[in-house]
Amino acid sequence: MTQEQVVVIDFGAQYSHLIARRIRECNVYCEILPHTVTPEDIAARRPLGIVLSGGPSSVYQGGAPKLDNRIFDLGIPIFGICYGMQLMAQALQGVVHPGNKREYGKTDIQVLNTSDLFAGLDDRMVAWMSHGDTVSQVPDGFKILAKTANTPVAAMSCPEKGFYAVQFHPEVVHTPKGKEVIRNFLFGVCKCKGLWTMKSFIDEAVEGIKKQVGDGRVVCGLSGGVDSSAVAALIHRAVGSQLTCIFVNNGLLRKGEAEVVQKTFGDNFHMKLVYVNAEERFLTRLSGVIEPEKKRKIIGEEFVRIFEEEALKLGKVDFLAQGTIYPDVVESGIGSAATIKSHHNVGGLPENMKLKLVEPLRQLFKDEVRVVCQELGLPDDITWRQPFPGPGLAVRLVGEITKERLDMLREADSIVVEEIKKAGLYREIWQSFAVLLPVRSVGVMGDQRTYANPMVLRAVTSEDAMTADWAKLPYELLEQISRRVINEVAGVNRVLYDISSKPPSTIEWE
Ligand code: XMP
Repeated sequence: MTQEQVVVIDFGAQYSHLIARRIRECNVYCEILPHTVTPEDIAARRPLGIVLSGGPSSVYQGGAPKLDNRIFDLGIPIFGICYGMQLMAQALQGVVHPGNKREYGKTDIQVLNTSDLFAGLDDRMVAWMSHGDTVSQVPDGFKILAKTANTPVAAMSCPEKGFYAVQFHPEVVHTPKGKEVIRNFLFGVCKCKGLWTMKSFIDEAVEGIKKQVGDGRVVCGLSGGVDSSAVAALIHRAVGSQLTCIFVNNGLLRKGEAEVVQKTFGDNFHMKLVYVNAEERFLTRLSGVIEPEKKRKIIGEEFVRIFEEEALKLGKVDFLAQGTIYPDVVESGIGSAATIKSHHNVGGLPENMKLKLVEPLRQLFKDEVRVVCQELGLPDDITWRQPFPGPGLAVRLVGEITKERLDMLREADSIVVEEIKKAGLYREIWQSFAVLLPVRSVGVMGDQRTYANPMVLRAVTSEDAMTADWAKLPYELLEQISRRVINEVAGVNRVLYDISSKPPSTIEWE
């Protein structure tokens, strides 16, 4: 396993995953653990440091998430952030003052001591605050490192024990020097070396796959998306022809997608690739279905059925490769989010086949997966492909799914993608695509009345799809997309721009 790691203990913070990302950006491997983790579990991982996350609770609240205080006896450096700092103060007999005045937003901080946590920084900095309670008295052996106008202890430390804590959030962009503070903890206090790179990840993953798979056979559901492509390429590197990929064309793909997948994996990588054209099968089952959850259910079921049929044709298979990535693990393992949409992921487990799972990307964030793709020599077209939902265009075609409407949407979508790429925005935008609505409005074209559909342009920026903001595309680009779609896609006479963020909307329309 990775030589050096730091663990983040999660207390229900909105920002825990950001803490992990910032740490990994410093080339230190990091995982998020639930607050119920035991000191024994932590010690077994032999981390060089522990971070206690923020959280929405007050340490005085009944039912507030607690920490097993024996963690402070492990002899491992600990960094408390916000709620994490209050927990640390309370556990070590400092005083936490219940908040009656909230401090929220960008705040000026006066740094009183620039020797370790704030090494190399000015004595004034801007930091993002979001707290009610405050530490009013530091525990014995601690000193105050920083303060604000309202918060007497904005940072504290006990260097002898390697305990550090800040009331602000160093992990968010609104704390411009936050990353420096995190670096100081990792490299100054924990003595990390920063050895974790995607190259070292690939070497370890390949070794891990070889060990797990032995001379067994692996089947992988390939969608052409970033995650399943990275999984296929990684496993192929590890066990070559023991891997067979199955690509199901469900008729709900974007323009040219099936061709790119066949060319990349079949022709260039010489993988064993089973291409299944199941367009008719899917469209028949989806005929007349309008309700989004029903669409998702049918597509998920049909996919698993086809996948099973094809896998059975391969003879004895032992493993199923899945493109599960870290946010999936965190969401299902730590959070308790309500199900808004039942996600269908390509490679849904055929349960009765009793296949063992190979999930080499379980530790990675999306942007890290892209670096893996690059390192493995996948083309930009795949590496930088924007996320695409498992149910494909079905959830962007509001209303009934017919071949004709799908073709319209595919055409409109390809214009959107082409223009966004031409404008140089494809990589920085999380997703940009077309949605077709089942209503019609009146227009005029060539002196003729039209009565046709509107297309919705959806473009969002996001870090991880959990939240998203509508992209502020230039007017000229909006105009160009609108003009082209209306001129080139028969059946569309109006283009609308979706200016909703998530929440309260979602990224996809269904
Ligand atoms: P929403 O629409 O819930 O989507 O804001 C969040 C992200 O997930 C993608 N998405 C899916 N991905 N299977 C997937 O693999 C699905 O069923 C699915 N539904 C939505 C969506 O494109 C966005 O990136």
